[in-house]
Amino acid sequence: MQQHATSQPRPLFTASISSLIQLERDSEIPLYRQICQRLREAILSGELTEGARLPTERALASELGVNRTTVMNAYNQLASEGLVEGHVGRGTLVRRNNFSYDGENFDNVASWLFGLPAGERELLGPDAHLLSELAAMGERRDIISLAAGTPARDLLPAEMLSTIFAEGLLNARQSALGYCPVEGILSLRRGVAARMRKRGVAIDAQHILILSGSTQGIGLAGRLVLSPGDEVVLEDDPYGEMYFEGKEPQPLMAMDRNGQVLYLSTYSKTLAPGLRVAWMAAPEAMIERLSLHKQIFDLNTNAIGQWAVSEVLQRGLLDDHLTKLRRRYQHKRDLMLQAISTHWPRDVRVSHPQGGFHIWCRLLGDMRARSLLREAAHEQVAFVIGEPFHVDGGGQQQFRLSFAYPEEEHIEEGVRRVGNAMRRLMARRFPHEEPRRLGVEHVPMV
Ligand SMILES: Cc1ncc(COP(=O)(O)O)c(C=O)c1O
Repeated sequence: MQQHATSQPRPLFTASISSLIQLERDSEIPLYRQICQRLREAILSGELTEGARLPTERALASELGVNRTTVMNAYNQLASEGLVEGHVGRGTLVRRNNFSYDGENFDNVASWLFGLPAGERELLGPDAHLLSELAAMGERRDIISLAAGTPARDLLPAEMLSTIFAEGLLNARQSALGYCPVEGILSLRRGVAARMRKRGVAIDAQHILILSGSTQGIGLAGRLVLSPGDEVVLEDDPYGEMYFEGKEPQPLMAMDRNGQVLYLSTYSKTLAPGLRVAWMAAPEAMIERLSLHKQIFDLNTNAIGQWAVSEVLQRGLLDDHLTKLRRRYQHKRDLMLQAISTHWPRDVRVSHPQGGFHIWCRLLGDMRARSLLREAAHEQVAFVIGEPFHVDGGGQQQFRLSFAYPEEEHIEEGVRRVGNAMRRLMARRFPHEEPRRLGVEHVPMV
């Protein structure tokens, strides 16, 4: 059966092979089997992609401090499983396997495992793989990720939540661990509406739909409820309460007199993305329509996360937490701006955000951020390019750095590495000439 599968792009970052293998020398499992097992996992999970070259037996043996025969036995075992193959003069290469399909001989395998059919690729956009790879960067200790729009590890409210669970869960069995209304648990909807009223939006609980992440709201509104030509404003406001200077900014919805704004926000940035608790505020009729669609996808947003957030609000804990976050993120922003002015060429245009998690940057002339990202991969540093943030194909010279997630001591080093990559790219692009200066351009606000 022929399908429309397409090849998976090669990952941007590939791990060093010896770093993939941690040997347990006290284990009863023979060393060659441990090596084999780790490499097998790496190949099947896609960490090692088709065509990746394994180190020579001698090199890997010396890096791991084992006998060369041990590595030879491991490679032989992998070869007998069809996962690697030896080529004279080219060493041992990872073979195509079911999880790194390249478009041939797939009659007997399920097509949905591999690649993206053409229509699906259009729907997801050309950078779906790149973005999910960048999102996973945060877990890699060998890479400095300036990509993720995620809170700093040490600012995740683990102590606050563990107190709430310890003190409240036994009595809140049903509301925290049962199913709950599609629209969300009432105490949370009330709490969210009360906070929005303080920010100038005249709404009540019935105008709030709790979502499993605000991304869900964008999907629900965009795919199911809106039609071409509808005049709405989808206000995506995850950082409204994360301002550093001056007065708290009002949501656009506070100025809406015609019920035209669909407002989205989330507790992913102000508490924790793992909670998956966000909300939409909209006219009641829209909330009712969206609830009908939402229940088809997940019946209800996880009740335990909703209960925990509702407790945070009722106990009045969010404001103090926000004060702490604002102070730390402002400090991290300043560290990043300082590092940029120390390590980057002067002509790169850089935003000075008044809040949020990110600094937006604009490269010189027509240098592409995508090329910089490739170059930066050699420096083991990641960031997000501008194109996926533009519906009009723009943003090719822009990229975004997050100062929120990286630890303070990694911010300067990450920026320095991006600067190194930039200089190499510029030396190749503009060996003799000065790059073209910039005109006015839009920069995304996220
Ligand atoms: C601007 C913006 N909107 C929405 C989201 C997604 O938030 P959630 O975790 O609620 O899906 C993000 C996360 O990175 C974001 O940066």
